[in-house]
Amino acid sequence: MAQIGYSEKVLEHFTNPRNVGTIENPDGYGKVGNPVCGDLMEIFIRVKDDIIKDVKFRTFGCGSAIATSSMVTELAKGKHVDEAMKINRNDVADELDGLPPRKMHCSNLASDALHEAIKDYKGKKKVSRRMNK
Ligand code: FES
Repeated sequence: MAQIGYSEKVLEHFTNPRNVGTIENPDGYGKVGNPVCGDLMEIFIRVKDDIIKDVKFRTFGCGSAIATSSMVTELAKGKHVDEAMKINRNDVADELDGLPPRKMHCSNLASDALHEAIKDYKGKKKVSRRMNK
């Protein structure tokens, strides 16, 4: 993999991904598919007082998708949901010391799935606020 331009960090996250798994009854859940390659990613978040306390992912995808999911979970953990919403594919790629250009689309999957999970959380919060009125 190193020959096609993967950084040490990408290889490290690919072989030793952080936060793999699922969260039962998550506060937010996001699932996105990559139309380019058909790969799929799911992100689960546990949130308390708008802070992401725990985050897990499941990826059915390539090595870059696994490395970027791992990195996005690391970046999101402990952040306020509004801050985590600002994490984009360039942040993820930068933290991994770059991705080969033809693999940049893979990092969309990670940040998009995180954003979907946060939107899901915010949607649920609105509903429960409305129900408590
Ligand atoms: Fe599908 Fe990378 S090739 S996410």
